[in-house]
Amino acid sequence: MSLKTLPHVHIETFGCQMNESDSELVRSMLKREGFVFTEDRERADVVLVNTCAIRENAHNKIYAHLSELKAVKKQRLLVVGVLGCMAQNLKSDLADKEPIIDVLAGPDAYRQLPSLLTTAIEAQEQGLAQKGFALDLSEYETYEGILPDRDSGVNAWITVMRGCDNFCSFCVVPYTRGRERSRDPESILREARDAAARGFKQITLLGQNVNSYLHGEWDFAKLIRAVADQAGIERVRFTSPHPKDFPRALIEAIAAHPKVCNHIHLPLQAGSNRILELMGRTYTEAEYLALADRIRRTIPGVVLTTDIICGFCSESDEDFQATQRMVEQVQFDSAYIFKYSERKNTIAARKYTDDVPDQVKGQRVSKLVEIQRAITAERNRRHIGKDMEILVEGDATRSSSQGMGKTDGNITVVWDKSTGHPGPGTIVTKHIFDASAATLYGK
Ligand code: SAH
Ligand code: SF4
Ligand code: F3S
Repeated sequence: MSLKTLPHVHIETFGCQMNESDSELVRSMLKREGFVFTEDRERADVVLVNTCAIRENAHNKIYAHLSELKAVKKQRLLVVGVLGCMAQNLKSDLADKEPIIDVLAGPDAYRQLPSLLTTAIEAQEQGLAQKGFALDLSEYETYEGILPDRDSGVNAWITVMRGCDNFCSFCVVPYTRGRERSRDPESILREARDAAARGFKQITLLGQNVNSYLHGEWDFAKLIRAVADQAGIERVRFTSPHPKDFPRALIEAIAAHPKVCNHIHLPLQAGSNRILELMGRTYTEAEYLALADRIRRTIPGVVLTTDIICGFCSESDEDFQATQRMVEQVQFDSAYIFKYSERKNTIAARKYTDDVPDQVKGQRVSKLVEIQRAITAERNRRHIGKDMEILVEGDATRSSSQGMGKTDGNITVVWDKSTGHPGPGTIVTKHIFDASAATLYGK
C-alpha cells in the first residue's frame, strides 16, 4: 500500500438511517481527496466500520465484526477505522480493547478523516504503530457544502438536523451525537432538487428528533411542504419524530400534501405514566393517546408505527400491562420492540437500577411481539380488496420472479412479475388480494 497508488476503501455501516446517511457523506469527502471505494473488502487498503451504540447487542455485533477483520489484518497491511456512535461513546477505551483499530472518528469529526487516514497509511508503510483519533462533538457541524455520494435506489436520505437535546434517561444518542442543530433550509432544498435530477423518486428527511427542526422562520411543517413541492419528487418521508413536536400545522401539512406519505413513526417507549416520567419522555399516556387520535382523525388511513422498550428500570407487571393496554388501544400498524439495555453515562445508568431480570425482559418482549403480530396481520388484512399505489423498488428478496415495492404507508407489497412489473422508481397501482403480518400481495 502506498499513497502513490490510490488507497482503496471499503465501508460497512451498522445502526440507523442517520449512519447510512453519514456513510454517504464520508464517501463523498474521501472521494474528493482521491480515495477510491470498493465493494470488495479483500481489495481494500482501508476498512471503515460505521458503528451504533444504541443497545449492548449493537456493540456485540461490531466486536464480532472487528474480530473477523483481525484475521484479515494479519495477512496484509490494512488500516482499520471505526466511525460513528460506538467510537464516540467508548473513545480510546475501544482502541485499547481492540488493538487492530488505527483510527477512531465520531459523527461530528468526519471532515478530519482524509488526513487521519493518510497519516495512518503512511505510518503503516513505515512500520510505525500510530493511532489517530477525532472525537470532538460540535454545536455547529452540519456538513454544509458536502453533497452525499448516494447509494443507488429509489430513496435519497437527507439529514436535516443532527444531535438530540432530549436526554431520554435510557438513551445514549445525546452523548454520541451531541447537541441539536438544524441545517439551512436553502441547502436542504438544493439537495432535494439535486436528488430529483439524479432520478431519486423518494426523499426521507432524517434527524434523531427530526420534527424539532428549526431554522429561523422555518419549522418542520414548512420544510416538509417545501421539499415535497420540488419537481420530480414523488414521495417524502421522515424519521424519527418525537411525540412532543407534533403541532396541528404539521399534522395538517402531512394530511394536505399529496406527496408527503401518510406514515408516522411515533415512538411510544412505554405505556405507564410512572415509567414515561422516569424515562423523561415528557408526555403522559393520555397525551399520547390524544395525539394518536388527532393524527388518525386528521390523516384518514394513516399508518402508525412505534418503538417500545420492555423492562426499563423498576418496570413492574402493572407497568408492563399499561404498555400492553396502550398497544391494544392504539392498534399500531407495526412496532419495534426492544429489551432495555443499560447504556454507560446515561441518566438511567447513573440514577436508576437495571433491576428487571433479563428473563423477564425477554418474556415481556415476546408477549408484546405476539400481541402486535396479530394486530399487524389484522390491519394488513384490511387492505385486501383495495387498489393501492406502490412505488416500485425492484425484485423481492425471496424470489426474482416477484417484484417488490412500498405503499404510501411504507408497507411492503410483492407481486408476480408476470402480472406487470415496471422498473424501480415507477408508481403502479396494484390490487391487493392477500396479506400476512409482514407483506401485502398484489396483482
Ligand atoms: N430518536 C428516536 C429514537 C432513536 S433510537 C426517538 O426519539 O424516538 C431507536 C429506538 O431504540 C428508540 O425509540 C428506543 O425504543 C430504542 N432504544 C433507545 N435506547 C435504548 C436502550 N438503552 N435500550 C433499549 N432500547 C433502546
Ligand atoms: Fe434518544 Fe430520546 Fe433523543 Fe430519541 S429523543 S434520540 S430516544 S434521547
Ligand atoms: Fe445507533 Fe447512533 Fe443511530 S447509536 S441508532 S447509529 S444515532
